[in-house]
Amino acid sequence: MATTFCLINQKGGCGKSSTCFHLAGAFAELGMDVLLMDMDPQGSLSQGFLGSEFVESLNSKETMAMLFDESSFFDSYDDLFHPTQFDGITICPANQTLAPFNAPEPEETGMLQFAIREFLEESNDFDVVLIDCPPNLYRCSWVSMVAADYVLIPVPPEDFGTQGLRAVHQCVQQARKLNPGLRRMGHLITRCDNRLLVHRMYEQKLREMYGNMVLDTVVTEASAFKVALTRRRPVQFHAPRTRAAKLTLSLAREILDRISLDERKRRVA
Ligand SMILES: Nc1ncnc2c1ncn2[C@@H]1O[C@H](COP(=O)(O)OP(=O)(O)OP(=O)(O)O)[C@@H](O)[C@H]1O
Ligand SMILES: [Mg+2]
Repeated sequence: MATTFCLINQKGGCGKSSTCFHLAGAFAELGMDVLLMDMDPQGSLSQGFLGSEFVESLNSKETMAMLFDESSFFDSYDDLFHPTQFDGITICPANQTLAPFNAPEPEETGMLQFAIREFLEESNDFDVVLIDCPPNLYRCSWVSMVAADYVLIPVPPEDFGTQGLRAVHQCVQQARKLNPGLRRMGHLITRCDNRLLVHRMYEQKLREMYGNMVLDTVVTEASAFKVALTRRRPVQFHAPRTRAAKLTLSLAREILDRISLDERKRRVA
């Protein structure tokens, strides 16, 4: 079975899609088969790989919306898997056809809450699954948490209120009632500019608050990430010698190390 991560934060623009995009390249570089699932009706991750015109032209049966459409319940999942131009990276895209499903009351989704989990149980050709969630904790994020092994929370180093993070943790806690195996991979500091005192202070504060639940790797703000995205190539493939590419590779390795440590701990327990 693949290890499934959902990237969640109700804060917009904190790097959820960008992290999925580039991390997929790093995992593929490490020889893994990666499935990306776009659960955001904005479809940014899908557009990053497949182009906006193509993604907007897809009908609901070719996107993640298919899983929540009663008229498609008995259809095969085959049309959902879209290859990318990179070996080892496949994407299940999303566009506006997913928007009607993303209502604010997650607990009212009934059996649909398990739609992604059931889909993943039948899609076992992958080593890693990354689910990109929208900037809210509505149904799309909820069903992703119900299906995932780990939650990864990208955090830009500016939100000193931390109210937003508290809501994310409460939501994870709720989702564990349906998915007791859901674990926190932790907070990933993204878009960090070490020259800014405010960013360095935020990092320190987050580490004091959450300790080991903050990943060691910090994703800095770097134009290489943006440029690679506009070329539709994860930075690993677009500019492998850049600091951004090396950092993304370190992040992938840290995540894999944390998974092995977690598995060892659970075996002992
Ligand atoms: N480390 C980074 N360095 C430079 N630019 C970045 C970095 N991370 C993200 N960006 C840019 O910031 C913008 C927002 O990032 P992204 O789309 O990943 O955020 P998001 O959390 O997915 O947003 P949304 O909540 O709207 O889905 C994008 O233009 C992206 O290219
Ligand atoms: Mg996004």
